[in-house]
Amino acid sequence: MGFLDKLFGKSNKKEEDAVVKVDNLKIAIIQGSVREGRNGEAVANWMYDFATKRNDNVDYEIVDLAKYDLPLLGEELTEANQVGSETAIKAWSDKMASFDGYIFVTPEYNHAAGGALKNALDFLKPEVANKVAGFVGYGSLGGTRAHENLRLILGELQVADVQTAVTFSLMTDFVNMSEFKPADYHEANANQMLDQVISWTGAFNSLR
Ligand SMILES: Cc1cc2nc3c(=O)[nH]c(=O)nc-3n(C[C@H](O)[C@H](O)[C@H](O)COP(=O)(O)O)c2cc1C
Repeated sequence: MGFLDKLFGKSNKKEEDAVVKVDNLKIAIIQGSVREGRNGEAVANWMYDFATKRNDNVDYEIVDLAKYDLPLLGEELTEANQVGSETAIKAWSDKMASFDGYIFVTPEYNHAAGGALKNALDFLKPEVANKVAGFVGYGSLGGTRAHENLRLILGELQVADVQTAVTFSLMTDFVNMSEFKPADYHEANANQMLDQVISWTGAFNSLR
């Protein structure tokens, strides 16, 4: 294979065969936006449908952050909301602990991931350690700065993040910036990202 093919990630058959396959992996597709009317729902659903159609022998599940009514980390809990908040924190931690790997679907807010996702990640540490993450982003530049922001956070949480990310543009993959119509070329990246996540998730199995 030529240098440029290697640089731009073109693989050959031999490399594809090198993907570590472990059965019954559980991989979460995290819906990282909680905004009412969010674009994230369509993107997470697309990712879930795309991943499940590959027949990877992986159990994919969408985890919707909006369904967890998490408090702000460290905020004083009143008597009225204490039980609910503690239940939500436990449900979130238990859910995240139950997976081998994660695909974070995230918008870009002010050149970073959204505050709700950062807050949710701050509740975790052992639950996600020695696991693997891939990214799907959307924004004017494909959510790339949100991915880079998440890479910093996940490094501290001992989560290994893969190189290839899927990057949807608000301008060209959404009609009127709201109706999700992804261009076909993203499928190659989505496949490569999933191959990397599955391979590392299998390889990291022995550490968990
Ligand atoms: C507070 C806020 C800040 C934003 N900042 C950026 C930004 O820095 N870069 C960008 O590409 N898009 C930015 N956007 C646009 C969002 O990426 C876009 O609205 C996206 O659809 C939001 O995801 P959601 O609809 O799932 O909530 C911002 C949107 C909001 C609400």
